[in-house]
Amino acid sequence: MLNVQLNAGNPAETGTPLLAIALVENPSLAGIAALDTASSGALARTLEMKDFRGTRDETLHLTGVVKGPRRLLLIGMGAVTDRRASLKRAATLAARTAQRLGVGELVFYSGQINAEETESVTAGLIAGAWEYAELKSPPPEAEKRKPLERAVILTSNTDDTRRGLANGQAIGGGQSIARRLAMMPGNLCTPDYLAGVAGEIAERNGLELTILGRAEMQAEGMASFLAVAQGTPQEPRLIVLKYKGGGADEKPVILVGKGLCFDSGGISIKPAQGMEMMKFDMCGAAGVLGAMDAIALLKLKGNVVGIVGATTNMPSGTAMNPGDVVKSHFGKSIEVINTDAEGRLVLADLLSYARKFQPAVVVDAATLTGACVIALGHCATGVFGTDEELVNEILSAAKKAGEPGWPLPLWDDYKELIKSDVADVKNSGGRPGGAITAAMFLKEFVEGYPWAHLDIAGTAYSETDLVVLPKGPTGVPVGTFVEFVRGRFR
Ligand code: BES
Ligand code: MN
Ligand code: ZN
Repeated sequence: MLNVQLNAGNPAETGTPLLAIALVENPSLAGIAALDTASSGALARTLEMKDFRGTRDETLHLTGVVKGPRRLLLIGMGAVTDRRASLKRAATLAARTAQRLGVGELVFYSGQINAEETESVTAGLIAGAWEYAELKSPPPEAEKRKPLERAVILTSNTDDTRRGLANGQAIGGGQSIARRLAMMPGNLCTPDYLAGVAGEIAERNGLELTILGRAEMQAEGMASFLAVAQGTPQEPRLIVLKYKGGGADEKPVILVGKGLCFDSGGISIKPAQGMEMMKFDMCGAAGVLGAMDAIALLKLKGNVVGIVGATTNMPSGTAMNPGDVVKSHFGKSIEVINTDAEGRLVLADLLSYARKFQPAVVVDAATLTGACVIALGHCATGVFGTDEELVNEILSAAKKAGEPGWPLPLWDDYKELIKSDVADVKNSGGRPGGAITAAMFLKEFVEGYPWAHLDIAGTAYSETDLVVLPKGPTGVPVGTFVEFVRGRFR
């Protein structure tokens, strides 16, 4: 991961291959007066000629205008309403550009910034530097670029900003873990592999780890989860990570993640076009693992349990079939109408199993429905819940994290759509309101705790390059989870 440091130096005199300067729209010279003087007025002329206006994501790359930094990179933040978000975005773009240029290190400057802003900039720099190159052969010597290894934030180096730096490293690190796992192909990121990563996180942070396999889940009565897993020879894994930052008798916050290492649809198989994207069907699980690492590093003062259900959904001679009926861990019987509605079968048993830990609250995240992508596109996570206060808490945590969510209803009127002819409930309500009927299905297995559900199908990964983020996993919902837990234990 990118090494980020603080330094209180003068930007004009900093010896660096790249000085990134984040500026608001129509910037004044005030904040960069020293740099302008050092550049003999080159910056003033640049602004005067409107070569750079500071619109969001605008960049201008200048070489040889000042003595200290070899290159200047002006980055536009647009009209800033949320300073933390704008600084984070600029930092992400700075690191991404530095990575592309192959300069090895960069210095980020945007005047004096406070501890919270330092946290955002740090997480942004780490996000921008993130890449997944593990499976590519190294390029030939002539094409080699220096990977971005170090970033320095120019701001006062105080206890406060150092705390911001450490927090940003924790969150950026958690997001990097999640993005790496998400990007890994299904043949490498198997349920066992996820369990191994959970083991490393547990080891590093002193967390308690429990892993259940097929036999243990059978003994627990998790026939719904196991119906999904019965199509694959791979061992399914139910992973539990416990972080104890609070009192022994304090009820834990529980984070639950859907971990479909690959979702082919099963017997109700998906079309071939784009099916490779379904390696991302474990982004909820990756989010839980990344968040647990960050929460432990942040030393939050509360108890948190992370639960991940990992398997793959495959068509095979042993796979479940449409029409099958299974008995869930909760006790309700489920008719499988569509084997591609597998995430909810896994989550049903996880949400029921969660009761074992006497939760204060349970929040799950899942790439659950294509319907959520149709409803909200890629700009907002679908947020559901049994408790209005909890939903609002999640929405503000998501906003704070820069991972916006939007509420969707859980009205009893929708329940009609998941009534089964033969069982207590069926796993598909058809296309209309598909994100809602999926959440309504999950609600059938929630009892005894306030619950929220995040449908991250549209927000956990991107099929296109998003300027500041490459095509692929976004790190959602790590930030939302962390802000939610942090908000509770402040
Ligand atoms: N993992 C998918 C949902 C998904 C689709 C995530 C597209 C990201 C992008 C989920 O398991 C699924 O297949 N859901 C079905 C449910 C349907 C069969 C009731 C869907 O959304 O089509
Ligand atoms: Mn599916
Ligand atoms: Zn799925």
